[in-house]
Amino acid sequence: MSALAAEKGAINLSQGFPDFPPDARLLARASTAILTGNNQYSPMTGLPMLRDAIVQLVERHYGRIVSSQDEITVTSGASEAIFDAIAALIRDGDEVVLFDPAYDLYEPAVTLAGGVCKRVTLTAPDFRPDWQAFASLLTDQTRLVIINTPHNPTGSCWQAADLESLWQAIASRDIYVLSDEVYEFIHFGESAVSVHKHAGLSTRSLVVSSFGKSFHLTGWKVGYIIAPAELTVELRKVHQFVSFCTATPLQQALAEHLLALPDASDELGGFTNKSAMY
Ligand SMILES: Cc1ncc(COP(=O)(O)O)c(C=O)c1O
Repeated sequence: MSALAAEKGAINLSQGFPDFPPDARLLARASTAILTGNNQYSPMTGLPMLRDAIVQLVERHYGRIVSSQDEITVTSGASEAIFDAIAALIRDGDEVVLFDPAYDLYEPAVTLAGGVCKRVTLTAPDFRPDWQAFASLLTDQTRLVIINTPHNPTGSCWQAADLESLWQAIASRDIYVLSDEVYEFIHFGESAVSVHKHAGLSTRSLVVSSFGKSFHLTGWKVGYIIAPAELTVELRKVHQFVSFCTATPLQQALAEHLLALPDASDELGGFTNKSAMY
């Protein structure tokens, strides 16, 4: 689709990557990290310094305190985190609820794990869910709900009432939530509400973020997943054999950047003013 969009000069809604440069200070840190010898495997769960920086980032933006050691895993992009979580949680015949249109990775990962997708259609103009339709899909086989807000491709941002409706529907059931929040710092107008801010949902959720999206470096493929310790143990069993770890100098650069300039993340949402994209 990207090749076709380039050929036809069309607006490309298939792959989300910016066409403006990342922060030059971050690029310099990556270059230095390579030249100063940070080129071997990192720990399987991610560089401790980067996990500490993620703790601070999550506290700064969502007021949630997570454990660097037990709840954060750095992955090769959000894609790997999503795959790891699905592979860890889904077994033959488990049902997974998706909201259509859904990011293209979810269904193949569920199918590969032996699961079955159930779908709720998001409709214009706001592309927020019909929670009655959602509740009617839940069965004793439902194991996981995958949500994505801010949403690719519609850009819709769910609000606190949506997360509360989701929680009310699943609270008494044995269901987990995979919350794909890779566009957490990219919104046009109203921002989304994060699962990190919902007391109930956050105990049941695996929340996925992408430094590639947030810092406009999609080619770096550094992401992370935050989940309760008992779920983190399971997804790390998959992560260990899918990638083991992601590029060490890039982790090093991101960690140094976040720790040295904690307020740099406050400006990420303002990128639309500078964007040549729209
Ligand atoms: C909704 C959504 N989730 C996950 C990803 C993958 O992110 P990453 O490049 O960090 O693997 C993308 C990339 O386009 C996306 O749009």
